[in-house]
Amino acid sequence: MTSSDGHHDEPVQPTDEQLAAMSQEQKMLAGAAAGGVHVIRREERFPTPGTKAEKRAERLVSSMFLLGALGALGFMVVYVAVPWRFHLGNNSYRFFTPLLGACMGIALFGIGAGAVLWAKKLMPEEIVVQERHDPASDAFDFQTTGATIVQGVEDTGIARRSMLRRSIGVGAGAVGLMALFPLGGLLRKPRGELFRTPWTAGVRLIQYDGRPVRPEDMQPGSLATVFPDVPGGLEDANAPTMLIRLRAGEKVTARNGQGDFMWGTYIAFSKICTHAGCPVSLYEQQSNRLLCPCHQSQFDVLLDGTPVFGPAARPLPQLPIDVDNEGYFVARSGYHEAVGPAFWERPN
Ligand code: FES
Repeated sequence: MTSSDGHHDEPVQPTDEQLAAMSQEQKMLAGAAAGGVHVIRREERFPTPGTKAEKRAERLVSSMFLLGALGALGFMVVYVAVPWRFHLGNNSYRFFTPLLGACMGIALFGIGAGAVLWAKKLMPEEIVVQERHDPASDAFDFQTTGATIVQGVEDTGIARRSMLRRSIGVGAGAVGLMALFPLGGLLRKPRGELFRTPWTAGVRLIQYDGRPVRPEDMQPGSLATVFPDVPGGLEDANAPTMLIRLRAGEKVTARNGQGDFMWGTYIAFSKICTHAGCPVSLYEQQSNRLLCPCHQSQFDVLLDGTPVFGPAARPLPQLPIDVDNEGYFVARSGYHEAVGPAFWERPN
């Protein structure tokens, strides 16, 4: 408090006897005054408890908390029930993330709006002015601060407003559960899926429209993205493979044990970048380099897919290929190493 001569008045601290005789609210106000916080006006919003207006306000706050609970429940239902995997011809997976976001937004909005409306519509209306002061704490501060906190809780009226107590319990509980729910995805450890692809011996190489590929379908110096001709082969994230036809005279320096993976001048590499899993999609036939557009890694086809530029550190896995009796390309086996970027259990 500043006096008329411009000096700050020392707050008058009540004696122990005066403090003992004070009500909780008086203690809170005394503590505020001692800390340079002056309550100019403090009025109950509903001086007579139980009026229709108070009930209305209470119902409004409750409905916000329940809206929050509904949003949290929706989040959990969407997380479990809405398909999230890519399936050809079924776009419902696209709604998974937006629905999760919408439900979480509703949940957080409901809880937040309920808390704000509670303070604005039900708690005492105050005008408070605070002065700066030294951050010292003594026994008096401890007592009055404690009283301020308890008084604040009492001001919410939570003890006598059972509907609010229950609804905030339901809302906050559901939102807490919602935050834990996505951890469920971590419960199951991958069981070898990262080492497997749908490619096995004899599986035909097909294009996106299902057509099998024959050697004469490709021009020298061209690339085709191919998939395994098995159920779900077009959708499997580990399956996309690049089939390249080299130009006459171009020679590949094969990695150890991969000398017979090619068929003539045709060579097949995994399309999944070994850096962070983007699709490697640009083929520069003059330099025989494959480029990943995400972080510009480049792989040299003539060095058996070895990275020669950018952040990728491992070569693109090569798929052993052959041509079957009917003249179509087939895999001679699956990939001999895991495709895609590094992961914890990967040995190399
Ligand atoms: S994902 Fe290919 S360079 Fe990063």
